[in-house]
Amino acid sequence: MRPALLLALGGGILLAGAAAVADPGADPGAGRTVASMCRTCHGIDGFATIPTAPHIGGEPRAYLQAQLLAFKTGRRTHNIMNVVAAGLSTQQIADVSAWYSAHQVRATLPPGANPNDAPQPCIACHGADGIARVPDAPNLAGEANVYISTQLNAFRRGPRDHAIMAQVAGALTPAEIRAIADWYAAITLEITPPAP
Ligand code: HEC
Ligand code: HEC
Repeated sequence: MRPALLLALGGGILLAGAAAVADPGADPGAGRTVASMCRTCHGIDGFATIPTAPHIGGEPRAYLQAQLLAFKTGRRTHNIMNVVAAGLSTQQIADVSAWYSAHQVRATLPPGANPNDAPQPCIACHGADGIARVPDAPNLAGEANVYISTQLNAFRRGPRDHAIMAQVAGALTPAEIRAIADWYAAITLEITPPAP
């Protein structure tokens, strides 16, 4: 089981690398310059500085790009991010997504926590440690409690639109949402920038 998992992860990393090389349209260096507009809330390395903003360093590039385009077109609504994304060109969105996704993430469970106690309906996609297992899902490790519960409620009631997450979040009680947010918020996330 374990070697197979490692192989699968290795394959994923190789594929991600190949995709980055095959797409000359996205420039992480130019994206670092764009990220100076994001640093007050998300940090230059994607480690958020305010609890209402998520950590975005090391998220899959396709995920970041899709969310920024959703904010730009208004399909995902948030007063600050709609304004920020409206001011970005599609090129800047590609570049800044490449910059943040070039970071490495490491997640550590709090001392004494048992991975078997992780929220069972979530781990197939978001992992027991909050590092995503599927390429279109974001990491949850170390996100603030308030961010996780806000997003789950947004999937439940709208305005955030995603078929799977609407169904998953719709099945949770408020107490379950609190417990799940506590689990992922208690994980320590470290983000390492790409080598210069
Ligand atoms: C003033 C603070 C602020 C600034 C500046 C800002 N953001 Fe955000 N960002 C937020 C907040 C708050 C959210 C959470 C939105 C929500 O609750 O839906 C967010 C959400 C996001 C998300 C969604 C991540 C996810 O996990 O779904 C992305 C991607 C993102 N921001 C990228 C950027 C980029 C790139 C920039 C700079 C060009 C930027 N943001 C500038 C506050 C900010
Ligand atoms: C089958 C895969 C799958 C399962 C199972 C799943 N998710 Fe998700 N989750 C996703 C995907 C894909 C997204 C991205 C949605 C989008 O594109 O807007 C997401 C997004 C999220 C977000 C938004 C994070 C952010 O950075 O904005 C939260 C919070 C979340 N999921 C929590 C959960 C929780 C809690 C559970 C378990 C109760 C769960 N998910 C189960 C696939 C899944």
